[in-house]
Amino acid sequence: MFASGIIISVLLYPEVCISDEWYNCDRSYVQWINMGMDLEDKMKKSLGSKTLLYPTPVWVVGTYDKDGKPNVMTIAWGGICCSQPPCVAISLRKATYSYGNIVERKAFTVNIPSEVHAGQADYFGLVSGKNEDKFAATGLTPIKSDIVDAPYVNEFPLILECRVIHTLEIGLHTQFIGEIIDVKADESILNEKGLPDIEKIKPIIFTPETRSYHKVGAYLGAAFSIGRNVRQ
Ligand SMILES: Cc1cc2nc3c(=O)[nH]c(=O)nc-3n(C[C@H](O)[C@H](O)[C@H](O)COP(=O)(O)O)c2cc1C
Repeated sequence: MFASGIIISVLLYPEVCISDEWYNCDRSYVQWINMGMDLEDKMKKSLGSKTLLYPTPVWVVGTYDKDGKPNVMTIAWGGICCSQPPCVAISLRKATYSYGNIVERKAFTVNIPSEVHAGQADYFGLVSGKNEDKFAATGLTPIKSDIVDAPYVNEFPLILECRVIHTLEIGLHTQFIGEIIDVKADESILNEKGLPDIEKIKPIIFTPETRSYHKVGAYLGAAFSIGRNVRQ
């Protein structure tokens, strides 16, 4: 970096730099040019129009098919989308078996797997319920929701039971907005206030494009709080 700054200095200010005064010449020319190049280095690189967002979740969507067979598929394109009524958005391709199930039953569950379930969650995203019984293959247990027309995975620690209230055609994916009618949680993942503790759930993070699974990291600070003193 310093060497390239010197070359540019010589090109721009030859009378100063190519002289006996080289070693004494005002170094601010060089510093000024280096500063410009540092800024250039720090400019963002365009990666194009891609689904690069971090983190994305690893969720397992539970549905019944027209014959009442329970199915599960993995999704990463999802997130909370309304507080009142409490809603979650999930995006599915029409080609999936689950898509037809949701259209038919107007209901689904969102099952949050723990780190220990990473293999099963990946499998649920590799094969289709059209061809395989994913519950039978993994030995996991489908439980019929008592509140919506969909099954959930008993072994997963946190479940959202959802009723479809909106469907949005986007492109390759169709977004289903599910109103969260109830949340079911294992006692073991609740904190002293009775709320789910992320460090006990140990949910999985998915990274688009690089396609890898990650663990959730350490506690960083209290939300709606640590920002109070940052004004300079
Ligand atoms: C980590 C991961 C994330 C995925 N996210 C989505 C998603 O958001 N939407 C989607 O349509 N398919 C997604 N898939 C692919 C489906 O899970 C896959 O097509 C599955 O076989 C569909 O199952 P089904 O045909 O039984 O419904 C994902 C797969 C993996 C492994």
